[in-house]
Amino acid sequence: MPRLPFLNYGSILRESQQARRDSRPSRGTVTQPNITTVDPLENLKQRTGKSYDSIALSYKRWTVMYRGQRFTYAIKLIDLLKKEQAGITLVRLHRMRALEVGCGDGTPVAEILLSEDVNVVGVDISETQIARCRAHFPKHTDTRQASWIHRDMMELRYPWERFDVVIALYCLLHLPREEQAVFLKRAAKWLRPGGFLLFNFPQEENEGEVEEHWLGLEEGWVYRSSWGEEKLMSFVEGLEDMEVVVKGVTEAEGRNGDPKFVWVIAQKSIWSNSLKIGKPYEGQRGSYRTRQRTSITNNLVNQ
Ligand SMILES: C[S@@+](CC[C@H](N)C(=O)[O-])C[C@H]1O[C@@H](n2cnc3c(N)ncnc32)[C@H](O)[C@@H]1O
Repeated sequence: MPRLPFLNYGSILRESQQARRDSRPSRGTVTQPNITTVDPLENLKQRTGKSYDSIALSYKRWTVMYRGQRFTYAIKLIDLLKKEQAGITLVRLHRMRALEVGCGDGTPVAEILLSEDVNVVGVDISETQIARCRAHFPKHTDTRQASWIHRDMMELRYPWERFDVVIALYCLLHLPREEQAVFLKRAAKWLRPGGFLLFNFPQEENEGEVEEHWLGLEEGWVYRSSWGEEKLMSFVEGLEDMEVVVKGVTEAEGRNGDPKFVWVIAQKSIWSNSLKIGKPYEGQRGSYRTRQRTSITNNLVNQ
């Protein structure tokens, strides 16, 4: 897809910040009683976490019937990883490492990766989802092949090149749009050269909306937003050192009338700048060796 020349990271952020400012009622505005003045972004993360705590089981029952695309793309990802590995002549010093954010209960994607002997870090904002991950994978958790973190994905901090794979399925849409862009930019840095980013998002643009009772559930409060296909693809294609290697648009799995989703696998160039010895990491000083050491100790996330 041709890149839109006028779109860049800064414009995406500015556009969404302005949209948020415009949507706020000005002081002294008289609002109609039936118009909600509650900012859906207020307590967004807390509400999302609590909501998924309540609906985790119902979500699982619903989604288990519609998992085809997750399998398809997880398998595409593993094939790409294996192919890429076959091209590496140096002996790998560690097992492959994957980060899955918004991992839910760890099925099916983390489960597939674990079965392929990949180390998995699963992150979710719902305490219940994380507890379910630990319960589903006790052996992998005990042996530390899997670690599960209850956290907002936007609070994660990792050194550059920490992971071989970063995955975000059906979860970026729960973030405000500007955060989606920030997250993808960070994820690209966390990938090692040659690593892969797998994510999906609704094809239609949506500045942000709340569904109070998703899946017909009393507690099913969800916020959703999307940049839409054109803008987000342009943004991803513009990320430094990243190349889109797989893209598909799928009918949503589930109820009729659900939105279509865009699925993307992007690969970080094996010639990524961060490989060049002597080039300081962004925001860090010191030699390459110092950076290597600090990048290990700077991992602010306790796993
Ligand atoms: C629709 S579910 C998708 C779960 C799983 N990825 C799948 O494909 O079935 C969205 C998940 O993202 C999590 N989530 C939403 N916002 C999050 C955030 N800011 N940080 C981490 N997880 C989040 C929710 O708790 C929920 O488990």
